[in-house]
Amino acid sequence: MKLGVVMNGVTGRMGYRQHLVRSVLAIREQGGVELADGTRVELEPMLVGRNADKLRDIARRHGLENWTTDLDTALSDSDYPVYFDAQLTQAREKSLIAAMDAERHVYTEKPTAETLEGALDLARRAEAAGVKNGVVHDKLYLPGLLKLKRLIDSGFFGRILSVRGEFGYWVFEGDWQSAQRPSWNYRAEDGGGIVLDMFCHWSYVLENLFGRVESVTAKAVTHVPERYDERGEKYAATADDSAYGIFELAGGIIAQINSSWCVRVNRDELVEFQVDGTHGSAVAGLHGCKIQPRVATPKPVWNPDLAQNEPFREQWQEVPDNAEFDNGFKAQWEQFIRHVVDDEPNHYDFMAGARGLRVAEAGLQSSREGRRIELGELTL
Ligand SMILES: NC(=O)c1ccc[n+]([C@@H]2O[C@H](COP(=O)([O-])OP(=O)(O)OC[C@H]3O[C@@H](n4cnc5c(N)ncnc54)[C@H](O)[C@@H]3O)[C@@H](O)[C@H]2O)c1
Repeated sequence: MKLGVVMNGVTGRMGYRQHLVRSVLAIREQGGVELADGTRVELEPMLVGRNADKLRDIARRHGLENWTTDLDTALSDSDYPVYFDAQLTQAREKSLIAAMDAERHVYTEKPTAETLEGALDLARRAEAAGVKNGVVHDKLYLPGLLKLKRLIDSGFFGRILSVRGEFGYWVFEGDWQSAQRPSWNYRAEDGGGIVLDMFCHWSYVLENLFGRVESVTAKAVTHVPERYDERGEKYAATADDSAYGIFELAGGIIAQINSSWCVRVNRDELVEFQVDGTHGSAVAGLHGCKIQPRVATPKPVWNPDLAQNEPFREQWQEVPDNAEFDNGFKAQWEQFIRHVVDDEPNHYDFMAGARGLRVAEAGLQSSREGRRIELGELTL
């Protein structure tokens, strides 16, 4: 069978590379998504965006026929029952609402909205419209985090005590070298900010691997107050570009995650999580994951008078792949399509998206008020 998918925001970084090329077009190349009964669903994208020239160019490059600059036209075509959104965050809510009003199933990049209230409204509307809904949870599908999940499931850690995450890299200011992220990311008035961007990820990573976030204590700052945009013009960076957070999780695990676009990388990967448990520890990145079990743990003695010559980093063991890992965005697309067509369960829905927004809002509130924010159960 064929399934039409309206794709909005395909001229953007994520929309083009991860969702169109690496997911939907890759699924077409492999002959569709396989369902439980062995039949396959072929995806037929309709590209939506603001710029006709860019859409025409993408369509031509990939041999696609259907594109439009008018969302309503796309949403009125019953051959396209699924709507996907990778627009900049600020444009998302309105388009998702339009799609649900047209009774389309909805799949979206995170964050689902700019505020918790907006995210909950989306979840309520999805429930009322009876449409399938999903939010990108890409980090969970990364090889490094899949290996971490494998370790957790095996009982390797014993009792998990803490998680320390380090995310970030230097994003150029845009004057003498162009910035490698869009300028709206650095303007609060345009839906930017690292807390809004990354705490949504941390919410689902933590809740799916370790336990739901029960409280947030954070400090969000703007370390670089002026940047240069895509046209080389100076602008005020009004959004936070770094955040230092502590997350207390259900079950008592303490997670501490630094998120920053103002750090230089002295790690193996752009994000790394160290997990320490009574029986062993692990450090997982996007791809790799290394472990140190209790029985192979060295016994350092604090003595600042002596130079340290224990090769600590070499005392860890790499976890083997033992599987082939598909692109995470594509793997989740396939799951969502099976959810739509085959009713396969999907836990990564708009409520999960709303929990992400709640963690982000709590982070900003904690920073503003200088206090720890407790989170209760979130309901529709
Ligand atoms: N899952 C992830 O790992 C991940 C990573 C980066 C970004 N994202 C999310 O994906 C979304 C897109 O981010 P991106 O980095 O691809 O951004 P981008 O700036 O590269 O792309 C934004 C897209 O939105 C479109 N758009 C619609 N209305 C617009 C407007 N009024 N002004 C400007 N652009 C408009 C643009 O044409 C473009 O197609 C964001 O919501 C972001 O939070 C997710």
